[in-house]
Amino acid sequence: MVRHIVLTLNEFIIERQSEFPYAKGELSRLLSHIGIAAKIVNREVNKAGLVNILGESGMENIQGESQKILDVFADQQFISALKVTGECCGIATEENENIITFKTDLAKDGKYIVTIDPLDGSSNIDVNASIGTIFAIYRRLSPLGHEAMLEDFLQEGTRQVAAGYIIYGSSTMMVYTTGRGVNGFTLDPSIGEFCLSHPAIQTPTTGTIYSINEGNYIKFPEGVKKYIKYCQESDKPTNRPYSSRYIGSLVADFHRNLLKGGIFLYPSTESYPTGKLRLLYECNPIAFLAEQAGGKACDGLGNRILDIKPQSLHQRVPFYTGSRQMVDKAEEFIHKFESND
Ligand code: AHG
Ligand code: MN
Ligand code: MN
Repeated sequence: MVRHIVLTLNEFIIERQSEFPYAKGELSRLLSHIGIAAKIVNREVNKAGLVNILGESGMENIQGESQKILDVFADQQFISALKVTGECCGIATEENENIITFKTDLAKDGKYIVTIDPLDGSSNIDVNASIGTIFAIYRRLSPLGHEAMLEDFLQEGTRQVAAGYIIYGSSTMMVYTTGRGVNGFTLDPSIGEFCLSHPAIQTPTTGTIYSINEGNYIKFPEGVKKYIKYCQESDKPTNRPYSSRYIGSLVADFHRNLLKGGIFLYPSTESYPTGKLRLLYECNPIAFLAEQAGGKACDGLGNRILDIKPQSLHQRVPFYTGSRQMVDKAEEFIHKFESND
């Protein structure tokens, strides 16, 4: 009889914890707790059509965006899951104006802070398309035994100790990195465990997919417009024209391009002059994953995403990420035409 051996997320985390230079057990436990919260959110996402959790919550988040019921549910799930761990002293989420500090003695001794987009791609919730959760973990800068401070959260992306996402798609996956490559785990609903399914993910150096909301075309920087035309031109050796694929969930768009090769672009637009995506809980974790998989992430203004020093919690930046050669090419176009903007 052939026995199919599965490696669960928790087994994998423990197996790898000797790779962490410090605080081995704590980070492992924190990652496990994120996995548990993800399973609870997954359970609700999966039955979203059946129970009364679709639609608007009637509230707006700090950025004036309307919140869905699931946005609020996911936000609360992750906050409460992290609050009880004792490893995490505070959290910043897309749905809350200020940082949330955990005030118990246990939590005040927590070495880590978490930034999180609890539900990414909310506009897709009601139509059964893929959505996600994105998270990043940093070591705190403030002293142990105190409440977390804003400065703990305004750290460059290079200081992430772990980052990842959960995609609630045709199957549910958790993909994460601790700076030693990227690994993907698929939730096996029959045993309720994330199982290693995509070890050591490497993204192709180039691909044939470009992902961008072309409805905003008229207000894109000139170089981005020219790059899109380049993607659409015929050229056999570079497999052009490329295919356009855009779901409107960063997690889902990035995940597809990570596995297949491609580029994701969210430039500045009329509504979002500095780009729409948020540095702390969207761009930084995705950039960390992209780089760890051999890809690239930049803001098109000459900066590597991970090097940007955050100025505020909800800061937005233009975002270009994916296969290295494709991001290089997009940057080349943006740079060449920047004086025309
Ligand atoms: P969120 O649902 O967390 O607010 O994020 C939505 C983001 C991101 O997932 C996606 O890439 C982008 O918004 C889509 O924006 P457009 O609808 O402007 O294309
Ligand atoms: Mn998002
Ligand atoms: Mn969100």
